[in-house]
Amino acid sequence: MPTTSRRSLVEIVNASKVTAAESDAAQARAQLEAERRAHAETVKALERSRFAKAPKKITPATSKAGTGDIVEVIFSDVHGNKHDPAAMAALLGDLKTLSPDRIIIGGDFIDCGGFLAEHHTLGYVAETEDSYEDDVAVSNSLLDQILHAASPKEAHYIEGNHEWRVERWALTQRLAHHKDVDLLRRTFCPEHVLRLKDRGIRYYRQGQMHGDCDTPGWVKFDKAFFVHKISNARDAAGQAMAKAAANIVFFDTHRAAFKPMHLPGVGLISAWNPGCLCKRQPLYANTRPTEWTHGYLVRFISRRTGNFQMTNITINEGTSYASLLLKSKAP
Ligand SMILES: [Fe+2]
Ligand SMILES: [Fe+2]
Repeated sequence: MPTTSRRSLVEIVNASKVTAAESDAAQARAQLEAERRAHAETVKALERSRFAKAPKKITPATSKAGTGDIVEVIFSDVHGNKHDPAAMAALLGDLKTLSPDRIIIGGDFIDCGGFLAEHHTLGYVAETEDSYEDDVAVSNSLLDQILHAASPKEAHYIEGNHEWRVERWALTQRLAHHKDVDLLRRTFCPEHVLRLKDRGIRYYRQGQMHGDCDTPGWVKFDKAFFVHKISNARDAAGQAMAKAAANIVFFDTHRAAFKPMHLPGVGLISAWNPGCLCKRQPLYANTRPTEWTHGYLVRFISRRTGNFQMTNITINEGTSYASLLLKSKAP
């Protein structure tokens, strides 16, 4: 082959490399632009769902029924757009009758499914069809209904692992400035998209100390500790008590639990879990039955001594087992 022809061939190859590189760069620019547009759309959609109407705020009833004791209702693991409508309806009915002074939400109130990285099973992929926008809208509506039904004097919300994952996502976006991380938090984190501050609901982050508790994410109300996640063991209540050596309410397992124990150095202590209010068989569990149970906790606290009676209320197939009793005792 003559030299000139060989040179031409090299030039042709080089030229085609340049064209391919330019085409790759153009493709990357287009992809980046598409991602920017999708992000802007998501932000707009979230803004619409947050500010469509003013959120329901706490409006305490002027007088609470009963003896002057504090009535507290504790529930957890609603999981936003994956909530169980019948179980939620049962809770709302009982909240109206109980009219609690205080409500405590134990975390995983909103599902934040798209921010979970662990459950990449086929079922989970199907569940990602639920958008975060829908999740936020449903959770806001549920909060409105809960505050309307309960009219509590105070409301508390303990961050669950599902809420926390949005915060972790915001923190791990490799943005150059902490202000950008703050922007992502303000735009996406449950604390903000559910407008908890505007509603008068206090939020307790997992990664912060609260009150005089010496473990992050733990909160103490009237002689009992509260924490979202403490153990996945079958005997999670026993594990929780072993770790706390005190009265403890924990969540996350989605299974109701009550375990009292008398320890010589401590006295009588117990652990409770209210169960969940989400659909009992998520697709990501595939063929494994979950053993999850629906329910909530009600606690009657003596203002004089601080002693209390805490009781698990079972909700089965959308029926609260306490509802008949509560209705017969209602004034
Ligand atoms: Fe949960
Ligand atoms: Fe959880």
